[in-house]
Amino acid sequence: MTTLPQPPDILSPEFAADPYPGYRILRAHYPLFHDPGTDSFLVSRYEDVARAFRDPVFTTDNYAWQLEPAHGGRTLPQMSGREHSVRRALVAPAFRGRELREKFLPVIERNARELIDAFRDAAETDLVASFATRFPINVIVDMLGLDRADHDRFHGWYVSAVGFLANLAQDPEVAEAGRRAGRELSAYLLPIIHERRANPGDDLLSTLCTAEVEGTRMNDRDITSFVSLLLSAGGETTDKALAALFRNLLAHPDQLAAVRADRSLIPVAFAETLRFTPPVQMIMRQTAAEVTLSGGTVPAGATVTCLIGAANRDERQYARPDTFDVLRGDLSPATAFSAAADHVAFGLGRHFCAGALLAHAEVQVAAGQLLDAFPAMDFAEGAAPADAGVFTRGPEHLRVRLAPGEDPPDGLIPRTPQPPRDSR
Ligand code: HEM
Repeated sequence: MTTLPQPPDILSPEFAADPYPGYRILRAHYPLFHDPGTDSFLVSRYEDVARAFRDPVFTTDNYAWQLEPAHGGRTLPQMSGREHSVRRALVAPAFRGRELREKFLPVIERNARELIDAFRDAAETDLVASFATRFPINVIVDMLGLDRADHDRFHGWYVSAVGFLANLAQDPEVAEAGRRAGRELSAYLLPIIHERRANPGDDLLSTLCTAEVEGTRMNDRDITSFVSLLLSAGGETTDKALAALFRNLLAHPDQLAAVRADRSLIPVAFAETLRFTPPVQMIMRQTAAEVTLSGGTVPAGATVTCLIGAANRDERQYARPDTFDVLRGDLSPATAFSAAADHVAFGLGRHFCAGALLAHAEVQVAAGQLLDAFPAMDFAEGAAPADAGVFTRGPEHLRVRLAPGEDPPDGLIPRTPQPPRDSR
């Protein structure tokens, strides 16, 4: 008689140190598992996670307790139907197509350059502290037309907001820090919102202040919670993705060399990073009715935890799922940043990440500039740092040795490839 391996305790330190063996056990033996620690049903196979993102029987009502208190109001992920599509249409143009290319690409390029300038001549740096945690938030702050001098406050607020979302163990201090961050950000934003309503500019915050949704303007609370969502959705995720991309490439020097030689491979390497080490490891849903998945039946009214990190390594979906392989044939770079993606790092369906193409543009530009500036970048400590975090996950530090490259001759700016067309 064979004995089944124990299901993992997703709140345990062992799971936090390396969740992937636990994910494998779940996929193979407990594809639908009621986790007592989080009182939710864990879903780990690709097919089931994709279904939960696409099928409206899996609602996002859970965000009423998981997100709303930290943002101080209802936000996109919580909405459905027409309310959702109308609100999403307000910000979507800024994050794709012409507006992204013409208006915001220069902002992205300038922000990457300015941050790199601060350590261009250094022998070593921690790429997480000096670049990854600063770059995406600086970009979104510039897009909104807020003051970059307040970076540390924005960073503190979004870390607390994401902490609230990720508070699987229901720690009351973490919950209170999230609520406090929502209140503080809201108090910070209100006078700025009033100013922008009176004197709108060309920025995204002015767009939110002046836009009419079904004949009415968004009220102050709608806008403060929307901005709070954008700061946290656009900050911590891309930050972890960038750090993981460089860690994964530095750990595979042959693949790094291929990307250096052919910069059109940057988005391909980014897509494989999102599959292999997704920054958002899990997303929850609530069932509106009883529903049957490949692993069993979930009752109505249950909370379901969709394990993105497990689905993205499902052996039913990918060959050699535990191998980082930029050139794998079963992940399409052409669709990786659209709702037709064949990985689930951005979710799928109607709540598919609204900022996927912005993240693509940010990583394309940042990785291109970093590779140009440091032609011999390598791990400073000889080995790849591990990831940390259970809900969101990525390297906490990435100490790299830098060998500064030559400045390009005057007028010769390295070419930055454009974002792909939005295929949604
Ligand atoms: C690599 C970076 C990123 C990752 C891995 C990521 C991941 C995700 C995931 C998994 C969702 C789905 C949530 C759900 O279905 O409940 C989502 C939604 C969302 N993301 Fe991202 N995200 C990233 C970057 C960004 C950026 C840069 C922005 C914009 C500033 C952004 C804005 C949003 C918004 C507004 C939603 C809600 C969409 C909706 O409910 O319709 N994300 N993201």
